[in-house]
Amino acid sequence: MTIIDNLTRAFHRRKGAVPALAAVLIMAACFAQAQDTGAIVRERCHECHELAKTCLVETDDAQWWHETVLRMVEYKSELLTADEAAAVSAFLADKGKRASVCTPQ
Ligand code: HEC
Repeated sequence: MTIIDNLTRAFHRRKGAVPALAAVLIMAACFAQAQDTGAIVRERCHECHELAKTCLVETDDAQWWHETVLRMVEYKSELLTADEAAAVSAFLADKGKRASVCTPQ
């Protein structure tokens, strides 16, 4: 009897386990994406100025962040793809996520 067999049996017995597992995986994927976006900010946003320039900003205005991030991409076109620019803007417009890249690790 393999682990897979055991899991399969467990899922058949308790059908609620499947949606529960799916929910956990989706949450993990969202978390991983937020982490990746934070890594992009840490890696790419200190080349021309310190990351501190980003951390000094206190607004949560998503529109402002989007315009600002797109301006950075105008300075360096290969900085971010359109998807990355959207993810980075949304990330930086969130106070908690901004703090996660701005507080020393
Ligand atoms: C190619 C160089 C370059 C890169 C890379 C760069 N920036 Fe900038 N950034 C600038 C310059 C130049 C300014 C000052 C002029 C301006 O605000 O447009 C600036 C200003 C800023 C400001 C202040 C804007 C304001 O109005 O107060 C923020 C915030 C900022 N950058 C965030 C970022 C973020 C986030 C990234 C990474 C996605 C990034 N920058 C990457 C060149 C760059």
